Amino acid sequence: MAEISVITVDGPSGAGKGTLASQLATHFGWHLLDSGALYRVVAYAVQQAEIDIADVAQVTQAACDLSVSFQSGRVVWQGTEITDVIRTEQMGNLASQLAALSPVRAALLDWQRQQARAPGLVADGRDMGTVVFPQANLKIFLTASAEERAKRRYQQLEQRGITANISSLAATIRERDERDQQRSDSPLIPAPDAILLDSTDRTIAEVFQRVLQVACERGL
Ligand code: C5P
Repeated sequence: MAEISVITVDGPSGAGKGTLASQLATHFGWHLLDSGALYRVVAYAVQQAEIDIADVAQVTQAACDLSVSFQSGRVVWQGTEITDVIRTEQMGNLASQLAALSPVRAALLDWQRQQARAPGLVADGRDMGTVVFPQANLKIFLTASAEERAKRRYQQLEQRGITANISSLAATIRERDERDQQRSDSPLIPAPDAILLDSTDRTIAEVFQRVLQVACERGL
């Protein structure tokens, strides 16, 4: 079977990965993997089952038993749509805590790899280029200043009708990024062969054009 083309987009929260990944998937007509949403769904399942985050065996079991489907941007868990409820900072924070547990990451690995289906996949997350798809054709590591990321996340939440306070948002984003960068399993770091892009002073349209240029140079 021919190799499936994969583009990975990794980076910290609020750098614009989600928008970039979704634009790339639409452009190429490829599948899209929002791996952060997967960790958020586990967080939601853990919360619903009132599992203590310190109980690693039960949290891992929740990840193994996960019944979720992603349909054109909608997230459905056990028959219930949870697209918006998983987007809160509280859910992001819980997701980041359980994402630091190696057995949870291991439980989600196969499912993520199975998303690499023809004609191609754009995968967005923290460890897409380093761990999940180390053979990806193109790896992007997208960053932006902490202030800019907090501002973008604030606007994103506002658009979804979720109220937030920008300074506490900046603090939780910082806390989450530090945890994601410092964990021992699959930390948030660029793959050695990733292309680093800073979106602080660039629009997403500019970043998108730059990525398309590199993708073209790679024959994608
Ligand atoms: O990208 P998003 O903010 O939705 O991710 C939520 C959390 O899930 C992140 O803070 C991170 O801890 C975790 N995550 C991860 N690996 C991924 C994607 C997300 O550890 N590939």
